[in-house]
Amino acid sequence: MLKSKKKNIKLLNKLIMNRKFKTINIFTLSILALGGTMSSCVGDSNSPGLEYMPDMYRSPAVEAYVDYGQILGKYNLDIVAAYKPGLAPAGTIPTTSNAMNDLPYEHGAPIGFDKSHGLYGMPVDSTGYADAAGDLNPIAYTEKTKKEAKVIYQNFCIHCHGEKGDGQGTVVTNGGFPPPPAYGGALKDLSAGQIFYSVTYGKGLMGSHASQLTKEERWKVVHHVEELQGKVKEVEVELLFDANTDTDGDHVMDNMDECPTVAGSIDNHGCPAVSEAVAAVLEGAIRGLVFTTGSATINPSSFKSLNGIRDLMQQDSTATLILNGHTDNVGNAASNQTLSLLRAKSVRDYLVTNGIDSKRINPIGYGQTKPKVSNDTEEGKLANRRVEFRLY
Ligand code: HEC
Repeated sequence: MLKSKKKNIKLLNKLIMNRKFKTINIFTLSILALGGTMSSCVGDSNSPGLEYMPDMYRSPAVEAYVDYGQILGKYNLDIVAAYKPGLAPAGTIPTTSNAMNDLPYEHGAPIGFDKSHGLYGMPVDSTGYADAAGDLNPIAYTEKTKKEAKVIYQNFCIHCHGEKGDGQGTVVTNGGFPPPPAYGGALKDLSAGQIFYSVTYGKGLMGSHASQLTKEERWKVVHHVEELQGKVKEVEVELLFDANTDTDGDHVMDNMDECPTVAGSIDNHGCPAVSEAVAAVLEGAIRGLVFTTGSATINPSSFKSLNGIRDLMQQDSTATLILNGHTDNVGNAASNQTLSLLRAKSVRDYLVTNGIDSKRINPIGYGQTKPKVSNDTEEGKLANRRVEFRLY
């Protein structure tokens, strides 16, 4: 902007020197002045552009429809702590009582936002977009999600991107808006995490959708974009627990809550906090548990760490155990669900044979619905085949 202003001044001087000034008239002058004020300071072509006076509409107070910590590039724990979760009136978007909305998304806004969105003092990130490529979609792709994703797309994206995602929406065909790249063409290999990133922060002519769609809705619509990319997606079995229900009222929604029927803390995955010593025994059992590949037979090498769990449960006769079984994404989603449940049950049976009342143990099978890390590598798959122990 400075450069172009200087240029304008130079040009003005020249005009005055030439004494043609009088004939050049006010009109030219105003065009030059306008050019100086209106030209954007943002060099980054991916930035949706300059926000003039952001404080006029960006309130420092807690407000509905603002996904705190997202657009500001930072999870603002002070605000989250100060806000009383669960108090959102019916029909409004809760900010912290829905675990899906609370999912921290740690990537900073793209670097161009530093200049264009007035994020003074907020972290902006030149690597966030690249890093986002590794993010997994936390929303399971079920028949229900599939339908919901399509509706979100129809309401928020179709007018630009078109029904087939070919960039031929009505504002393009009727309105002359430049066509976005086709999902199945130039954007064919864009990953789920990057789709989410661009929908969240905006890119080029597309503005941020963070204030229109909750984080959950944004992750859902990513599924529909992937369908339009032509990615092969296996429909998963319905989640065991509902994202809209919080049975134990601890503000961790059932589908994210590893102890969905007992109130716990957000830090401990919705389970009540345990002492460090107990946590160490649980961690040891999780790491020590090995099954024969593809079966629910426990390898004898695991018995020692399982006996540690038995001892804990014998010492505290009120303690109850939840066993969450998970698999990697190899094979069929339904049979993975069965296998994960059978494995959790095997652990229960071992403990029951060793003197623990079966009523104190609750095995759950999640199948492949909750990977801990990406299934892209063998290491990742190994980490995802697991049974998690929660004691309370
Ligand atoms: C106002 C029109 C418009 C709307 C509405 C819109 N987009 Fe876009 N979108 C674009 C344009 C234009 C681009 C190309 C941006 C660029 O690369 O400069 C784009 C790019 C994208 C990309 C590619 C981003 C990347 O990282 O390369 C994705 C994914 C996307 N849009 C998804 C969506 C989804 C999902 C919605 C609905 C929630 C949506 N868009 C709504 C116009 C729009």
